[in-house]
Amino acid sequence: MDVMTIILRIVHIVSGVVWVGGAALFFFYIEPTLNKLGPEAEKFIDELVNRRKLPIYFIVFSTLNVLAGVTLYWMNFEGVGTSPYGLALGIGGLAAIAAWLGGALLIPRFIDRVGAIGAEMKAAGGPPSPDLVARMHAAQSRLRIVGGIVLGLLTLAVVAMASARYIG
Ligand code: HEM
Repeated sequence: MDVMTIILRIVHIVSGVVWVGGAALFFFYIEPTLNKLGPEAEKFIDELVNRRKLPIYFIVFSTLNVLAGVTLYWMNFEGVGTSPYGLALGIGGLAAIAAWLGGALLIPRFIDRVGAIGAEMKAAGGPPSPDLVARMHAAQSRLRIVGGIVLGLLTLAVVAMASARYIG
């Protein structure tokens, strides 16, 4: 095994752990907390997304994972090719790439929308109108659905990567 492969594997696996761990924490704890807090969460979302730039965390680690993974696949193509090992890596890789695109393109947009509706509720003062409540629920459930799909794809990728070597 050459040094380049070792470095790429370390970058690939460490960034994958950070990406998938962050996605699970967000899906199971942070996002349900935001939904529960409603308009109260507006400040928290602003701090997390606009000031601390949470989307950058996901973009950086998911991109490092995908770039290192594609490079490893390309470098080892002769070895992995059409074997069951290569097929499992390919399926896992495609699932992770779909999660990467969905996560980068859709999730920040949906979080922003929840934050913007929360800000509207706060600015309107008093109990929110039924229209605002309905829009908030629609935005929250879209975020939940996309988040669930992304996490499902990531789980498939992790299971495929973890077992590929021993398949076949
Ligand atoms: C959720 C994202 C991902 C995670 C957590 C992940 C995790 C892992 C892990 C733990 C291994 C080591 C498996 C072993 O040695 O038995 C591995 C290997 C590998 N992964 Fe991924 N991976 C992810 C995404 C990707 C993507 C997008 C590709 C691109 C096609 C990819 C391609 C590969 C390849 C080619 C190997 C074999 C490297 C080698 O043995 O030298 N992975 N991955």
